[in-house]
Amino acid sequence: MAHIWPIGGGKGGSGKSFLASSMGHLLAKSGRKTLLIDLDLGAANLHTMVAIPYPEKSFSDFVTKKVSDLQDTILQTPFSNLFLISGAHDSLDIANLPYEKKIKTLKSIAKLKYEYIILDLGAGTAYNTLDFFLASRNGIFITTPEPTSIENVYRLMRAIYLRRIRHYFSAADFRALEKKVKEYMGDDPFKKPEHIVSIVKKDYPYKYAMIKKDFSSFRFKLIINQLRKQDNTSLGEQICKIIKKHLGINVDFAGNIAYDEHVHDAICQRVCFLDRYPYTRAANDLRELKKKMSYSFGEQLSLDYL
Ligand SMILES: Nc1ncnc2c1ncn2[C@@H]1O[C@H](COP(=O)(O)OP(=O)(O)OP(=O)(O)O)[C@@H](O)[C@H]1O
Ligand SMILES: [Mg+2]
Repeated sequence: MAHIWPIGGGKGGSGKSFLASSMGHLLAKSGRKTLLIDLDLGAANLHTMVAIPYPEKSFSDFVTKKVSDLQDTILQTPFSNLFLISGAHDSLDIANLPYEKKIKTLKSIAKLKYEYIILDLGAGTAYNTLDFFLASRNGIFITTPEPTSIENVYRLMRAIYLRRIRHYFSAADFRALEKKVKEYMGDDPFKKPEHIVSIVKKDYPYKYAMIKKDFSSFRFKLIINQLRKQDNTSLGEQICKIIKKHLGINVDFAGNIAYDEHVHDAICQRVCFLDRYPYTRAANDLRELKKKMSYSFGEQLSLDYL
């Protein structure tokens, strides 16, 4: 079964696709059969980062039933061991992917015969994005050091947290829970997940124990991308501490990726950054991250709600 690495970031431009393609290149280069899936359907561009200018098939062929098997949408990239399911040509936004299609996609992904599958998720907190992120216990968050990007990644983490809690309740029970939160706290439960947790702990101790156990098995990672010389190198650790304090979930800081003008140059030249500029600080950071993540991620799937 494949190791699945979903990559999410609250804000556009934080480097999700750059990280997905770079990890894909490095894993493939080390002999691992790797598949990249572009699930940023509204703004797909991962194909450009793996030198496929005009993908002749894409995820939309599966959504529109042109093909019945997700396997038939896979493209070989010019790089050995590296494959792609492009999101290009999808008029569909991920938020509008019908529920049955999402479940079918998740089940199909779980069956694909690859060693690594990397999901490029696109920005935002649409339920489908959250569910794709939660399809694996090895989700990777990425942000730049800018406060706006950090704010959005924090929002994404909270949304993912709440989405997982939601799995433990029926629709009616969850509505009742939200009502209680409003009564006790006088607040929008979605603004303060801590409030939901405190009510779950008090009124549903059995569920609380299950949720706690569930979260302890997730291996979330955080990466700070585009770190400039003057930036605080321990920002990632500080964010993880805040997450732990407010949500009680463990997110491990995996490392920083330096800001490097050559990333822009490589993308404009449509070449692989790691091949073209292997001796830069950012290339070194990416290799370190790949090493760290392939060692520390263990068990893979969390499709238990399907
Ligand atoms: N480490 C880096 N150093 C310098 N520039 C970078 C770095 N990482 C990414 N970039 C720049 O940021 C741009 C956005 O990166 P990328 O497309 O990977 O973001 P994204 O999170 O996938 O955005 P979107 O949500 O719009 O899909 C890239 O085109 C590149 O120019
Ligand atoms: Mg992208």
